[in-house]
Amino acid sequence: TDFLAADLAASIRTIADYPKPGILFRDITTLLGDARAFRRAVDELVQPWAGSKVDKVAGIEARGFIIGGAVAHQLSAGFVPIRKKGKLPHQTVRMAYALEYGQDEMEMHVDAVAAGERVILVDDLIATGGTAEGAVKLLRNIGARVEAACFIVDLPDLGGSDKLRAMDVPVRTLLSFA
Ligand code: PRP
Ligand code: HPA
Repeated sequence: TDFLAADLAASIRTIADYPKPGILFRDITTLLGDARAFRRAVDELVQPWAGSKVDKVAGIEARGFIIGGAVAHQLSAGFVPIRKKGKLPHQTVRMAYALEYGQDEMEMHVDAVAAGERVILVDDLIATGGTAEGAVKLLRNIGARVEAACFIVDLPDLGGSDKLRAMDVPVRTLLSFA
């Protein structure tokens, strides 16, 4: 899997100084556009749950919708969108989450997950973990069992994956950029 990680990493484009000077932005659109890399990433992400029952995959807007939709299909699970506030039409539950500067709120439909359902959280990348932490709290507040959180990319120096593990969420990532 070291070979796989290197192969997937090579399919990700790095953009210097985006969105701000000093940031090395990991652009996964090149992985998504590479048919073989996209399939391998999704196959590898779902591997621990092949043959076990997962009720729902929750994907975080926007890039978590792309990965999460494919993961849900692969696991024959339902898909639940976690969105930025104001986008969902039915009654929602809401959670504040930390951004690099300031905070925002995310929402999910109140009936999207039933109490006790087994949910896997999916996003493309974990950095500070503020976004994923908010999503885990939102899911747990409505009684979901968050079985794991999965990301293609970990930026371990920003501490997000450790933060989720400290909340007793098993974390699966396919590659790291340190
Ligand atoms: C990015 C990424 C994750 C989040 C990770 O999304 O897709 O959702 O940031 O950062 P964190 O671990 O520090 O919270 P972004 O907020 O840029 O939203 P977008 O997908 O709508 O562009
Ligand atoms: N790439 C994509 N999304 C991100 C990054 C990055 O490097 N850092 C925080 N969110």
